[in-house]
Amino acid sequence: MATIIDGKAFSANLRAEIARKVEIVKQNHGLTPGLAVVLVGEDPASQVYVRSKGKQTAEAGMNSYEHKLDVETSQADLLALIDQLNNDPDVHGILVQLPLPKHIDEESVINSIRVEKDVDGFQLSDVGRVSIGAEGIVPCTPLGSMMMLKDQLGSLSGKRAIVVGRSNIVGKPMAALLLAESCTVTIAHSRTEDLPGECRRADIVVAAVGRPEMVKGDWIKPGATVIDVGINRIEKEDGGTRLVGDVEFKSASQVAGAITPVPGGVGPMTIACLLHNTLQQACRLNGVDVPE
Ligand code: GUN
Repeated sequence: MATIIDGKAFSANLRAEIARKVEIVKQNHGLTPGLAVVLVGEDPASQVYVRSKGKQTAEAGMNSYEHKLDVETSQADLLALIDQLNNDPDVHGILVQLPLPKHIDEESVINSIRVEKDVDGFQLSDVGRVSIGAEGIVPCTPLGSMMMLKDQLGSLSGKRAIVVGRSNIVGKPMAALLLAESCTVTIAHSRTEDLPGECRRADIVVAAVGRPEMVKGDWIKPGATVIDVGINRIEKEDGGTRLVGDVEFKSASQVAGAITPVPGGVGPMTIACLLHNTLQQACRLNGVDVPE
């Protein structure tokens, strides 16, 4: 039976560390980091995330600014809000919750955020930095996943890693981070031939495809470390719903050496990493070193 990697406990420790550092920058520099989160529309999952982000930002001692806009909001009005936040000295991080309604061009919106205030790491310049292994803002989900992997395994050098999924938000940056840690990296996707065989060769499996329980236990090499990024809501027989990952937890946890559960694995780490990125940007914008 695999070790269950407890993302809830890990993220609680990380958030406590961040809160400690926030207190230091407040005391020593009179700086209170501020995060603005913009939500357009009423997607239920996004509303849940935005609420958690606001709550945890405040709990870490930072200022949280929530902007909830009507689903009909025009791209011009959204860009005007971002412009205002770009120029607000109390705002150090700006996150526009994705997905945006169809009539809005996500790329234009993301790239309109002042790069010094980007906390998602989705801008082209951040993507470039991550891909050459340079310092910069790292997207929250891959960052949290890497923290758990390194905590579990220590050095990742020389290990075979597979990332299932090639999204810009998770799959591609995750592959870049694993490569920077000297893993031998495979990026698999919907056209990959013999996906089970590719997975079976891997010491590290990162599943980020958004398909409920797609990765089966018999795809996992015995003793491998499995990071399940998926959060899928599926119907139960009794008509209710439950959350499952992209990995079939029951079978995979019989074979893996360690595995993240859903919920309670990668999910809580993502928000903790958002707070980490906000603190980084607040310090950088104000010429303050991030406390040790
Ligand atoms: N929607 C789902 N995950 C994310 C994320 O990490 N950042 C943003 N901006 N939107 C998301």
